[in-house]
Amino acid sequence: MASLIGDTTEHAANRNDWKKHAGDDDQIHLENNDNALPSSLPRGEQHASVVAAHYNHLEEKGLKERFNSPIFYLRNFNNWVKSVLIQEYTDKIREKDYGRPLRVLDICCGKGGDLSKWQKARVERVVFADIAEVSVQQCQTRYEDLRRRCGRLFSAEFIAADCTKDTLRDKYRDPSINFDLVSCQFGLHYSFESITQARRMLTNISECLKPDGYFFGTIPNAYEIVSRAQKSSNNTFGNTIYCIKLLFDTKEGYPLFGAKYDFHLEGVVDCPEFLVNFQLFVKLAAEYGLELVYSAGFSDFYKDHSEKYKQLLNRIICFESYPAPPGKELIGEEADYEHAKAHWDQIKERDQRDRLGTMSRREWEAATIYMAFAFKKQKSTWDSNGKPVYKSSTEQTRSK
Ligand SMILES: C[S@@+](CC[C@H](N)C(=O)[O-])C[C@H]1O[C@@H](n2cnc3c(N)ncnc32)[C@H](O)[C@@H]1O
Repeated sequence: MASLIGDTTEHAANRNDWKKHAGDDDQIHLENNDNALPSSLPRGEQHASVVAAHYNHLEEKGLKERFNSPIFYLRNFNNWVKSVLIQEYTDKIREKDYGRPLRVLDICCGKGGDLSKWQKARVERVVFADIAEVSVQQCQTRYEDLRRRCGRLFSAEFIAADCTKDTLRDKYRDPSINFDLVSCQFGLHYSFESITQARRMLTNISECLKPDGYFFGTIPNAYEIVSRAQKSSNNTFGNTIYCIKLLFDTKEGYPLFGAKYDFHLEGVVDCPEFLVNFQLFVKLAAEYGLELVYSAGFSDFYKDHSEKYKQLLNRIICFESYPAPPGKELIGEEADYEHAKAHWDQIKERDQRDRLGTMSRREWEAATIYMAFAFKKQKSTWDSNGKPVYKSSTEQTRSK
């Protein structure tokens, strides 16, 4: 069996090859072998502290600043995606067992951007974990504020840990806890620095997840990144609100782990990240009893869920009114709304007060860098060596 890991000559050189190789069972050999990292890459510790320092120093933005942000609608849209995922998978668990108190692991939780989503989902307990200590403290403070304001709230615990290196189970108040859901929003890609880290992350995710429980999340879509990079002249692309620069020599191919890039997103992210080869991720996750049940880029995610969650889209203001209402200005420049203008011009009978809901081209370009996914934990039996043997479920997989 040919091993892609540690053998750069075998690294697929373009998007399609990369996809094909990673999905081809004969071509992939998942050993605990970190040779996949080009030797010039800094090793774990150094990179982890850069990421932790970046998120620790991220300022909390006030309401006014958020309203004036050039990524106001993008942020809201990202929150809509996360809310939909949380709602969909809490509902799926409750379809089977309505009264069940739900326990959740929010891994890479940051400052607790999803606290109120868990509150609305009426879960019983959430364990929040993140590498950035200051963010975890802010998450705890926000949780306590929320509890003071609303009285009844889920119980919670807060863990500052490198989830790609530490064993979370050792840090839980109750190490025998089982989760119904594990959510990892915009964080899993940090573990793709090396296969060892990806494995540790997946162990933390899967170890305490109940059979039939769900693991879901959002990550930058590597195929989208690679395809946009290939259209650029210097492996750098973006616009005024986001910019991505691949930091490895693509002529050498695309490493399966440690494929580092710089990601700048206006006022939110500005640090190095790693491409997640999705088919490899799916294959690796299967070893931990996690079976893919859904995956879609944000554009398709929107198509799949916008009808059902239309009210939520409006409530959290995911779209900008076009044309701008009297006394207001559009967030972007005129050229960012050509799509909306073309649509607007086609509407024959319209009232002066009518508006379209849209997103500026720049924000949509940034939004569609991401993808969402969900896995279901399979039931297992044990082999003679005491290792779990997972049974595949029959659930349909939608994969794009
Ligand atoms: C883009 S933020 C997302 C935060 C939150 N999930 C949300 O959606 O608002 C990514 C988070 O991943 C965390 N992270 C990065 N590497 C990590 C690691 N090795 N272990 C745990 N958390 C990590 C960062 O500290 C940061 O809080």
